[in-house]
Amino acid sequence: MITISDADKQRFIDELIDLLKIPTISADSKYNDEVQKGASWVKKALTDAGCKHTEIVPTKGHPIVYGERLIDPNLPTVLVYGHYDVQPPDPVELWDSPPFQPVIKKSELHPEGAIYARGSCDDKGQMYMHIKALEVMVNKNRLPCNVKFMIEGEEEVGSDNLEIFIKENKDKLKNDIILISDTGMISNKQPSITTGLRGLSYMEVIVTGPNRDLHSGLYGGAVANPINILTKMIAQLHDENNHITIPGFYDHVQEVSTSERKEMAKAPFNIEDYKNELEIDAVYGETGYTTLERNSIRPTLDVNGIWGGYTGEGAKTVIASKAHAKISMRLVPGQDWEIISELFSKHFKSIAPNGVKVEIIKHHGGQAYVTPTNNIGYKAAHKAYSDTFGVEPIPQKGGGSIPIVPLFEEVLGTKSVLMGFGLDSDAIHSPNEHFGLFNFFKGIETIPLFYKYYVDLFNTNKS
Ligand code: BES
Ligand code: MN
Ligand code: MN
Repeated sequence: MITISDADKQRFIDELIDLLKIPTISADSKYNDEVQKGASWVKKALTDAGCKHTEIVPTKGHPIVYGERLIDPNLPTVLVYGHYDVQPPDPVELWDSPPFQPVIKKSELHPEGAIYARGSCDDKGQMYMHIKALEVMVNKNRLPCNVKFMIEGEEEVGSDNLEIFIKENKDKLKNDIILISDTGMISNKQPSITTGLRGLSYMEVIVTGPNRDLHSGLYGGAVANPINILTKMIAQLHDENNHITIPGFYDHVQEVSTSERKEMAKAPFNIEDYKNELEIDAVYGETGYTTLERNSIRPTLDVNGIWGGYTGEGAKTVIASKAHAKISMRLVPGQDWEIISELFSKHFKSIAPNGVKVEIIKHHGGQAYVTPTNNIGYKAAHKAYSDTFGVEPIPQKGGGSIPIVPLFEEVLGTKSVLMGFGLDSDAIHSPNEHFGLFNFFKGIETIPLFYKYYVDLFNTNKS
């Protein structure tokens, strides 16, 4: 194992803090210049770490940062993917410290301290582990193969331009394995390797009733109230067992085998701790499945936002003309996100009563992904985690989505290894997002071992 000096550790933290200060919010065009700054920062960091060639690739949206250090065409090539863009920090008032002024604080789960800032875990902190791992390998003369970096600025908004970039640059991006740290693990005592990502279909619906907002006394009871109707329609999307009622929704779902479900149930998980951490008195979900199954191998439908009418101070008696909602569906292998989007649209329109019009906007989406556990990428990751944690990692399917990952396989023909070092409690996308220093340094130590074992296994397989 490569050891990192205390001075280097402190410098790595300081550098990451510097990056976290840049509000690279991809969803909000007000921050376009900041996103650009973030890209330049990453490009310089790649050069400083040892990339011989780096470039900022402009796109119709936010730029992609590319870097490479190619040492020998006979050696395998690892392509590292990550993202430097972050989610909006809202609601900012719920943060204990400002989202772009990183602070280090200790907590029960992170006795060694954690960096609190938007993007600390998702994904700047995890992406930066790879840049520092490169630096360490180069400085100690331990880089065993070729490496390419592709760090994008639009992951949180659907990666549309990255899709174009990979389709147009298949040769440049040629690789043997893709390495990604943009997921989590079970706990700091029990590492896990993510073996699945859910797909996603993201919709927006607008229900329109009368042509203008109306006095709720003069018109109330006599016309369809779009907010009443919208909530009623949404309520119909689940039945009493919390199954989704859209016709055809489950048609192609690949059911997970009983033996795999048994295997999943062995993962350490305490329902009381889970409820305590979230301060809920009961879990809730689809009949017939456990909590771990509900949040990983089952498809879901959730309202992400709903608005309309009067929401200001005091009371205003009004029937709004329009009601809006954003609805996402998490998908599992077998479901095609474009077909599901279509099924949703058809069904949602069909359940609208006379008296309202329904408009549907289809946002981004992506397919689910399963990583194999019998390839040398997974095996190398398994060995690397075993060394640094002293415990064997467990394969675990994740509930989140990274829509570009299935496209990597489709376009570039190679598999991804999802070596995540975050914890579910790190509050990604939420106020007070943080990333443990323990996790950050474990990542930097584990990654070089991955390279070493991967190249060993690659050579053994060849001979
Ligand atoms: N890094 C996350 C995805 C993730 C987190 C997967 C934890 C597994 C475990 C990624 O940045 C993300 O937030 N993805 C979005 C989808 C995207 C299209 C906005 C998601 O999952 O909501
Ligand atoms: Mn991410
Ligand atoms: Mn994210």
